[in-house]
Amino acid sequence: MESTMRSLISDQNKYKESFLMYIDRSTEHQCMQHFIDTKLPDIISSIRNGKTTIDVLSLGSGTGEMDLHILSKLQDTFPGHPINNYVVEPSQEHILMYKENASKALNIDNVTFTWHQKTTREIEQEIKEKNKFKKYDFIHMIQMLYYVKDVPATIEFFHRCLAPDGKLLIIVLSRNSGWINAYDKYGSQLPRNDLPINICSGEITDVLDSLQVKYENWDIESKLDITECFIEGNRNGQLLLDMLTETCDFNNTASTDLKALVLKHLETTEYSVKIEGKILLNTNLSVIVVDGQYTQR
Ligand SMILES: C[S@@+](CC[C@H](N)C(=O)[O-])C[C@H]1O[C@@H](n2cnc3c(N)ncnc32)[C@H](O)[C@@H]1O
Repeated sequence: MESTMRSLISDQNKYKESFLMYIDRSTEHQCMQHFIDTKLPDIISSIRNGKTTIDVLSLGSGTGEMDLHILSKLQDTFPGHPINNYVVEPSQEHILMYKENASKALNIDNVTFTWHQKTTREIEQEIKEKNKFKKYDFIHMIQMLYYVKDVPATIEFFHRCLAPDGKLLIIVLSRNSGWINAYDKYGSQLPRNDLPINICSGEITDVLDSLQVKYENWDIESKLDITECFIEGNRNGQLLLDMLTETCDFNNTASTDLKALVLKHLETTEYSVKIEGKILLNTNLSVIVVDGQYTQR
């Protein structure tokens, strides 16, 4: 029988619902915020290099929480300097939530936002067609490269959009995370739409090595509470499973065998810990910061 499984990213409403549930049950944003608070000020200290205005490009911004945290750090680091923040995000739903979050955010009074409801590919094409190459001081791709068909070409193109003193920040799942390992095992049975859904840190650093660019990386620990995935009929658990498998309505469209295999994998002690009745999945992340400059060329 032909599979009826559909990729989650093909349905903006369902993606938004699952993404918000994921963020709610995960420590991901708190871990990223900690990184932004403790490491980012040093990383960005030299990006301005005498310029008055700072240009930031956010790719796959989601609902904007991480963007706003980064912008607030940039403003603290460069008080009095205006910031232009260019947002590239294909989901209209996410842009609406981003705008709402931005309207309530503190400490971003010197930031001008421009929202582009586009994919990275579309913005890249637009830049090339109009021959309007602009250099940015800070570019970030946070948890979004899974949805880009040609990751090396995307990284190469946006790296070329960096000012010489600029920085590109990439965050993806670590190789040791339970999610990536589940994808490596069962990805061929899931709807992928030709996307590199299980791309992780090692593949990104291989691309950066081949581009001969300078970069630094850090691993940060993050956990996802997947307890509800094991409660029959639990809606929150089903949304989490949709996000983890990148599948719309995984519970009702995957075969019984596949569901059992994925759940068994997620709760193995290699990837999850059981604490106070909760099952916490390893969703560790890698943060990679790339310099605008090349090592050699
Ligand atoms: C997992 S979310 C991450 C959102 C945000 N960066 C964060 O960490 O909270 C991935 C985001 O990438 C967006 N996205 C999907 N395909 C994309 C593409 N081809 N180009 C740019 N963004 C994309 C999605 O709409 C979604 O908002």
